[in-house]
Amino acid sequence: MSKTQDLYTHAKRRMPGGVGLLSKRPEMFAPGRWPGYAARARGCEIWDLDGVHYYDMTTNGIGACILGYADPDVSAAVKKRVDDGSMTSLNPPEEVWLADRLCGIHPWADCARFARTGGEICAIAVRIARATTGRDLVAFSGYHGWSDWYIAANLSDDHQLDGQLLPGIQPNGVPRSLTGTCIPFQHGDTAAFDALIREYGDRLACVIMEPARGAMPAPGFLEHVRDEIHRVGGLLIFDEVTIAWRMNFGGVHKLLGVVPDMAVFAKALGNGHPIAAVIGTRAAMDGAHESFISSTYWTEGVGPAAALATLDKMERTRVWEHITRVGETVQRDWRELAARHGLRIHTSGFPCLAHFDFEENKLELKTLYTRLMLEKDFLANTAIYPTLAHTDAILDEHRAAIDEVFARIAQIKKSGGREAILRAIGGEVCQSDFKRLIDG
Ligand SMILES: Cc1ncc(COP(=O)(O)O)c(C=O)c1O
Repeated sequence: MSKTQDLYTHAKRRMPGGVGLLSKRPEMFAPGRWPGYAARARGCEIWDLDGVHYYDMTTNGIGACILGYADPDVSAAVKKRVDDGSMTSLNPPEEVWLADRLCGIHPWADCARFARTGGEICAIAVRIARATTGRDLVAFSGYHGWSDWYIAANLSDDHQLDGQLLPGIQPNGVPRSLTGTCIPFQHGDTAAFDALIREYGDRLACVIMEPARGAMPAPGFLEHVRDEIHRVGGLLIFDEVTIAWRMNFGGVHKLLGVVPDMAVFAKALGNGHPIAAVIGTRAAMDGAHESFISSTYWTEGVGPAAALATLDKMERTRVWEHITRVGETVQRDWRELAARHGLRIHTSGFPCLAHFDFEENKLELKTLYTRLMLEKDFLANTAIYPTLAHTDAILDEHRAAIDEVFARIAQIKKSGGREAILRAIGGEVCQSDFKRLIDG
């Protein structure tokens, strides 16, 4: 056993669920082998508690660290704010500057409010929409966090969220009285959306959805959703928590030219420092005056200071171009090397949120791939959210490692099929992933 593995064994007894985020459970990748803890990190490099060094070819902070870990410019802004006192009895001026900056990037928006996480900011946007419209129902597509308003979708039928990224999720602990308040629709399914509007339209406070997920929406779909929800008197909220800043400066809705009533951001906005924003028109956010939306740590200064520095650097470096190129390279490497070694895989997702699946023995091969890549000092599974810190030299080393690992997998598979794969894993097979990561 290692310090890293020992700590996780202990955590599972001390912390229900073991971790605070499903996507960081070692069981999602290579149970008993995945290093659950980082002692330090810089760029796209991580050192675990035993001092083992890895290149991170996975989600790099679940999409938060778009500029790389411990980015020096963001860290300098954060350190200055910490040294000047980041929490006081007064408000940090950076929050107003950040509101101005975001409304400058999105001229359709008049106002902003801040929180610290994606789930919180989605809950705030939905609260505002309900307060502004005086209506209760919410229609949604996609994943929007852990809050009651959202998980309520699974109260009426345990499988409502199945097509929405979190298959099989249990609504335990969510009040039964919320049944029927949150109604799913499939991204791109105009007929299903129209049926939803016909049934619930006059009771809908809002539609909340990611403008794009694994692929660009069908032409006209977002415009149709916007026009229909407006026709019935509700609001449109775009959830840009994961996708924003990765394909352009601003958010994917800006690229698509469809303006919502509110948009929410988190994750990459602070490059690893907690900050989340909802921006919107004055009319849409009017309900915020009448609703109680208030929390002590939403007023600390590190989050907005980090966001301002992150925005400057994302814009200056045009980070979305770099990460798209990195993602395209990795997607090509996966495809070419799988073909070279006779492995059947399927790649999907935007290059900035790239993914692949093994077509046979999916979870077994994912586990084996992850374990073999760890032996080569790469944190690698079947998704990469690239960062500014991924260089050509690292990509070359990564390609060479995949080449050897795919060759080894092909050899194991040929020598004895699934039994041989399980023997080579020599431990548990990983659990299945967020469905979101295989969409597209
Ligand atoms: C689109 C979207 N919305 C909301 C969330 C929730 O964000 P957080 O995990 O910061 O609460 C996520 C997280 O993955 C997300 O992808």
